[in-house]
Amino acid sequence: MPGLFISLEGVDGVGKTTQAERLRRYAAGCGAEVVLTREPGGTALGAAIRDMLLHGVRGSNDGSAEQIGARTEALLFAADRAQHVAETIAPVLRRGGTVITDRYIDSSLAYQAGGRELLLDDVRKLNIWAADALMPVRTYVLDMDPTMSHQRLRHDEDRMESAGDAFQSRTRRAFLDLAAADPQRCRVIDASGSVDEVWEQIRADFDGLRATETTAGDAR
Ligand code: TYD
Repeated sequence: MPGLFISLEGVDGVGKTTQAERLRRYAAGCGAEVVLTREPGGTALGAAIRDMLLHGVRGSNDGSAEQIGARTEALLFAADRAQHVAETIAPVLRRGGTVITDRYIDSSLAYQAGGRELLLDDVRKLNIWAADALMPVRTYVLDMDPTMSHQRLRHDEDRMESAGDAFQSRTRRAFLDLAAADPQRCRVIDASGSVDEVWEQIRADFDGLRATETTAGDAR
């Protein structure tokens, strides 16, 4: 697809949302159509799935969604993603626009395989199918110790955020392993610095990426 597809990843509280918004503004200043979106919840159907995943389902035994099984959880995140790709991401890329998504497939690989300990290969196959094999050209993995990043959260912890320290450290480890396995696509950014310091690293890489992609596009 002709457009530019970028994802931001990392454990909760690393500042992805702030950096994604900065990147949106910066990329929009360069003239292209830019859409900032997120998972879960980047579509109307996805918003309903997000609510179930993070806040539970009325009518379940104790009124919470604690009992959502690991496989069910993986399928719900994948369902959200399938709709997100078809309805939001792919149409913008087809028009040659830029899509910046706050979380994508790596979140499922890190949380559902790393955190929940489902088999990585199963979660990967499920998600490649759900996303029709669409992968970002660049993924910024914002990395920070989850015990520190969780102190930055300004809301009550949701179902995923309250899954425990061991879960969070497995998730962080998985993000780092995924990035190491795909160095062409992934850039690990130290997220413990100030908002400006983190942004500077993303901006510098993005400038290089845009230059490369423009040259590649001209050659196509
Ligand atoms: P997020 O939107 O980043 O949370 P918030 O808006 O509260 O900052 O993500 C919601 C949670 O869902 C987060 O804990 C990560 C988790 N998640 C997965 O476990 N798997 C996935 O595939 C995705 C996209 C998110």
